[in-house]
Amino acid sequence: MDQNLGNGCAPDAAASSSLGLPDRFLGMASQVHWWGSRIEERETRISRRAQHSQGWSSQALRSQTMAVEYVTYQGIKSPPAYNSEQSLRFAHKEFQVQDDDVFNVTYPKSGTVWMIEILSLIRSGGDPAWNRTVLNSTRVPWFTTRLGLESALSYPRPRLLTCHLPIHLFPTSFIGSRAKVVYTLRNPKDVLVSYFYFSKMCSSYEDPESFEQFLGDFLSGDVPHGSWFDHVRGWMEMKGKENFFFITYEELQQDLRGSVQRLCQFLEQELDDGAINSVVENASFKAMKENKMCNSTLLPMDIMDQDKGTFLRKGICGDWKNHFTVAQSEAFDRIYQDRMGGLPEAFPWDAR
Ligand code: A3P
Repeated sequence: MDQNLGNGCAPDAAASSSLGLPDRFLGMASQVHWWGSRIEERETRISRRAQHSQGWSSQALRSQTMAVEYVTYQGIKSPPAYNSEQSLRFAHKEFQVQDDDVFNVTYPKSGTVWMIEILSLIRSGGDPAWNRTVLNSTRVPWFTTRLGLESALSYPRPRLLTCHLPIHLFPTSFIGSRAKVVYTLRNPKDVLVSYFYFSKMCSSYEDPESFEQFLGDFLSGDVPHGSWFDHVRGWMEMKGKENFFFITYEELQQDLRGSVQRLCQFLEQELDDGAINSVVENASFKAMKENKMCNSTLLPMDIMDQDKGTFLRKGICGDWKNHFTVAQSEAFDRIYQDRMGGLPEAFPWDAR
């Protein structure tokens, strides 16, 4: 997702508290900090435009616009617009997990925002009013980001929270808690294709030079949020624990109703048939595309450029076949085997 930029306007609780400000100023200080960085970004853009009009070659301009300074925390890169090293460290070391928290955890482009819709619809007993009137990032805050952290800290329990954290950077206070984790994963080839297009439209991500280059970076783990292989392998260690539920994007596609029923069981939330039908209907690709509270069209143009793509792009399984050459697919499969071999579970894409 990282569309969670969404909320993307953002306080940095840890940074603000380190300034020694009273709590009530925390949001304000962070907003100033946030808008300060937005203004700097804007000024950089204006100066790039000026350079262009003064005759810079498009190649030189391209290498300028491609440079994104990622935030790095413990070796993992994160997009700069809404993360800070402090917010990530706070999430990791200081964030207090509550026993009734439910975490939506994913590697980017695996169905994060889809699961946000499903979880909030289940929470509201199938009533779509909350999903239709409140931004997804407020309903299920990204507690690792600056604004998301503030939302998470003021969220009435029981909380719904989301993140792309690898397991080793997940809040340490989770250990020993009874909080639940829903982990959604997706065929990594489709993740890669979705991530490629997303990186093109989102200014917090480097615009890939080519599909080939992005493929190489993805396979070596040199992309924001780190290696897909490490992420999935790490979280799969939780499999079998009673507070951990894992599901694939492909299962959601194939049987959304059955998936919602299994989720309700895991969350110990009983929904009748009518309520389940409403979850399924309102979490459909079509309904989500029409819902401004989750389709990312409310994000500012200089964060998510809707002229360069659509966040809810195709919403299908197997789009990778339209993008990979045979040689690329075979090279991918070799690395996949090497990195994922030995895992006991078979994923839906393993058979293909
Ligand atoms: P595509 O780019 O392949 O279309 P994330 O939320 O983790 O960033 O994932 C975004 C991907 O999930 C996008 O994939 C998006 O279209 C897809 N998606 C979101 N909601 C969906 C839904 N209701 N049904 C199917 N796909 C959905």
